[in-house]
Amino acid sequence: MHSDYGGVVPELAAREHLRNLLPVTRTALTEAQVEAGQIDAVAATQGPGLPGALIVGFKAGQAMAFALHARFVGIHHHEAHLYSPWIAADPPQAGFSQFEPNVSLIVSGGHTMLVHVESLLKHHVLGSTVDDAAGECFDKAGKLLGLPYPAGPAIDRLAEQGNSRAYDFPRPMINESHDDFSFSGLKTSIRYFLRDHPSLLDDRKAVSDRSASVQTAIVDVLVTKTIRAAKRLRVGCITASGGVTCNRALREQLADACAREQIHLRLADKSLCTNNTAMISILTKQKFTTGFKDDYSDHEILPN
Ligand code: KG4
Repeated sequence: MHSDYGGVVPELAAREHLRNLLPVTRTALTEAQVEAGQIDAVAATQGPGLPGALIVGFKAGQAMAFALHARFVGIHHHEAHLYSPWIAADPPQAGFSQFEPNVSLIVSGGHTMLVHVESLLKHHVLGSTVDDAAGECFDKAGKLLGLPYPAGPAIDRLAEQGNSRAYDFPRPMINESHDDFSFSGLKTSIRYFLRDHPSLLDDRKAVSDRSASVQTAIVDVLVTKTIRAAKRLRVGCITASGGVTCNRALREQLADACAREQIHLRLADKSLCTNNTAMISILTKQKFTTGFKDDYSDHEILPN
């Protein structure tokens, strides 16, 4: 639906949430073989995200909790991502018994950040992007290359046949010791490159080579900064989640770098990298298990 417009259209996203929410909820209950009356707590994403879409889920969750006399919890979207690498897929279950303190890379279309997870539910942000997110850079670079939205998966596929050393795109902030990221310069450099070499757009080999080169530039920055943060903080584990964590090169390069540095790597299962409610509900259960008190019932969405 959104690909026709080259990006997510907030109004359409909100309407689709409204249309899909009850059928998805019914299907989830049927598949889990749970009656509504058995539910102790309802959780919904509180933010960050698009206000229209957030408000549909949040208000529906509060209404369900009220009707079922259940507790209601608003969950921070990024906090849930931090714990998704500890979920085993199909059916999703928490694997927190194996939890280790870690540096966590969250990398999606809207966010790129490094977080130090000191223990279960105790974490703080080390750095994040100062402009575009890595997924946004994949999507915008792909648009310039004539690929449909979202372009990350297409770049990933094309890069398989391309030469990642064909073009030397910048690796913004790769050598800086802080944990922030910047990807807008990389996007601009691709735009200028294509402006100066328009004929390359019709050359299939050149498009594959550019896809591989762009992907390598993004992945190099993500891997280098993640490893550096883990070494500085002396943590023995790195985790990664978010849509871009589906990327094959990122998964492979993180695995290689972690093996070299003898750091344990835990990647979210591909089915749980993108936004999902398993991570929201598993985090909620963990919070209740550890005596979480605030039921957030009078809270509102926090889009920012
Ligand atoms: O976490 P996510 O589903 O949603 C939000 O950003 O909210 O992430 C979507 C992002 C998009 O930018 C998409 O292009 C990117 O993840 N993505 C990928 C791949 N699969 C999804 N980027 C690179 N390689 C992939 N295989």
